[in-house]
Amino acid sequence: MNSFVSVELIDDGKAISILDGQDRQMRFHAVWLRDNAPDTETRSAVNGQKLMTVSQIPDDIHVSTAVLKEEFLEISFLPEDKIVQYSQKWLSNNCYDGKLLEQPPIVCADFQTWDKLFSPKLPIADYGTVKQSPQHLGAWLAKIRRFGVAKMTGGDIQSGALFDIAALFGYVRETNYGKWFEVRSEINPTNLAYTGLGLQAHTDNPYRDPVPTLQILYCLENSAEGGENTVVDGFRVAERMQQEAPEEFQVLCDYSARFEFKGDDGVHLTAKRPMIELSPEGQIVAIRFNNRSCGPLVDVPYNQMALYYEAYRHFSDLVDDPSMSVSFKLSPGECFIVDNCRVLHARNAFSGAGTRWLQGCYADIDGLLSTLSVIENKYGSMERD
Ligand code: FE2
Repeated sequence: MNSFVSVELIDDGKAISILDGQDRQMRFHAVWLRDNAPDTETRSAVNGQKLMTVSQIPDDIHVSTAVLKEEFLEISFLPEDKIVQYSQKWLSNNCYDGKLLEQPPIVCADFQTWDKLFSPKLPIADYGTVKQSPQHLGAWLAKIRRFGVAKMTGGDIQSGALFDIAALFGYVRETNYGKWFEVRSEINPTNLAYTGLGLQAHTDNPYRDPVPTLQILYCLENSAEGGENTVVDGFRVAERMQQEAPEEFQVLCDYSARFEFKGDDGVHLTAKRPMIELSPEGQIVAIRFNNRSCGPLVDVPYNQMALYYEAYRHFSDLVDDPSMSVSFKLSPGECFIVDNCRVLHARNAFSGAGTRWLQGCYADIDGLLSTLSVIENKYGSMERD
């Protein structure tokens, strides 16, 4: 830990400025410090939740003294006349000063994007191993966080076994398709996914808001010709667009698309969201791409529509570019999981000879990341090379 060397009040005590041993300056506002005070009047000692509202902080809150004490920084606030100790390590870890000075990369450092060359490194875990070992489970979940996709082998070959996979980290999200859906050839299908046609790589259910953030596809039979699964990293596609045609990238971020699904009786889902969604910091949050459920685009102004279609087609071409995708064929008892806000999935056409039976379900990434955090808090970071 890099200890603090000095601290001084600035802006009449409305803020403080700290210098650490590496000459790094960290400024903190008095109101921010007061809001984040770790004392038991401010935060519950039981669950860590805040006990006061932001409105309860006095308008004229300011720091009267700031004193370094070993690994702590002791602050006195006026007009409350309140003394609070902050861990220097905690302040360093939560420093916000200087963050806006540089534009962050469009893909957050937590994620590592990939293309076809990723194929031999596609994360795979064995169900029996992961079920017995939190560390193995954590390593598998960390790879889903980093790459947005992973396979699992060694599961049971019986209907409903996909729920065992979801139960490893979270909960199934039930939709109008039910708790799970069957993916096999059908006559008069309500959705093109249930035929033997090939499907362009897509994210699922962009017509839903919020969109399901994880999808599990679980194989029970697969003796049909073809029918391989293909995955494409939508964040890598967006990165390439941003490099090759920044104006096109931007137009897909700047305007909402429309997505719609009218299927079985009583179902009419619509959503208005961009194909590439950015955070306020300019980093990619989500990709929505699905040719089957894209509705009329009515939120793009006339003078931007030609550019928008150029961008949309460019995105589609990159999705179809074989150098961007990884393909594999699932065997019974195997499944794969995708981050549905990032990784597109596709299926090659398959013939009627033999059988192909998959079951799919949705789940959400908040549960997965929560399980991963609990494991990492106990065993340390699960990130490996
Ligand atoms: Fe799909």
